[in-house]
Amino acid sequence: MRHLLSIADLDVADANMLLDTADELKKTLLGRQVRKLPTLRGRTVVTVFYENSTRTRVSFEIAGKWMSGDVINVSIGGSSVGKGESLRDTALTLASAGADCVIVRHPASGAAHRLASWLDQTGVAVVNAGDGTHEHPTQALLDAQTLRERLGELAGRRVAIVGDVLHSRVARSNVRLLTLLGAEVVLVAPPTLLPTGVGSWPVEVRHDLDSVLGGVDAVMMLRVQAERMHGGFFPSAREYAVHYGLNKRRLDLLPEHAPVLHPGPMLRGMEISSAAADSERSQVTEQVRNGVHLRMAVLYHLLAGEEAE
Ligand code: CP
Repeated sequence: MRHLLSIADLDVADANMLLDTADELKKTLLGRQVRKLPTLRGRTVVTVFYENSTRTRVSFEIAGKWMSGDVINVSIGGSSVGKGESLRDTALTLASAGADCVIVRHPASGAAHRLASWLDQTGVAVVNAGDGTHEHPTQALLDAQTLRERLGELAGRRVAIVGDVLHSRVARSNVRLLTLLGAEVVLVAPPTLLPTGVGSWPVEVRHDLDSVLGGVDAVMMLRVQAERMHGGFFPSAREYAVHYGLNKRRLDLLPEHAPVLHPGPMLRGMEISSAAADSERSQVTEQVRNGVHLRMAVLYHLLAGEEAE
């Protein structure tokens, strides 16, 4: 792997390799057989986030440090971006300064691909940590890792993705990855929060959440992305919670084996109630834990060279 920009760049073997490596790393580190690996000694990982983040940025930083890499977080507020420096000049500056890997989050769809094209001659690897409404590949991979732990192989499993699909890069990456791994995906959303091209996606589309829940193996709730909605949204927040929020009553409609996922940050009382978020079915904290091991696996395969392959 040269970069990780999109799930579309992975085949089944690539995806399983990353998931299997993450599982191995989790076993090794949680078993405390070792506390820190030497794998990235001498390598420099730089995170550049043009949008807010807690989980993704911190877990990439921990992942790099647990593999003995040097991790530098560029604070956009304190960087020369505030003086008007372009993304291209920022990227070339980081490469010249000695970065081996740049992890980028940006509000523009396609920003990570552009950055990778500018850095192609430099040997610097690029990881897309979320670009606009386009993709968030490491989120989908950690979600698949979490689902595999609960359900085993995902081929033939049916997964509901519920809520604001229109603005969700998490939904797009998950649709790609889950269908690549052989799962069926059903999107559940109001018509106003579905993209116009959804008819060409390899998914079933439904609008009535209650009628879907009894027939799925897992449910993935999406955050309502108010920051991407200019001038409010329809249905209203209250109607959204009534029709699409995962509450205690809806939790009880799920089959017993079905876990609940949410990428975070959660809007409690909107897309998910506290009863559902804190229930035994909820995988929210496990998703965060898996995020560290999955991101370690990504850095390992990008930076540890042929030995890693
Ligand atoms: N899921 C996710 O991307 O969370 P952050 O925005 O906190 O990184």
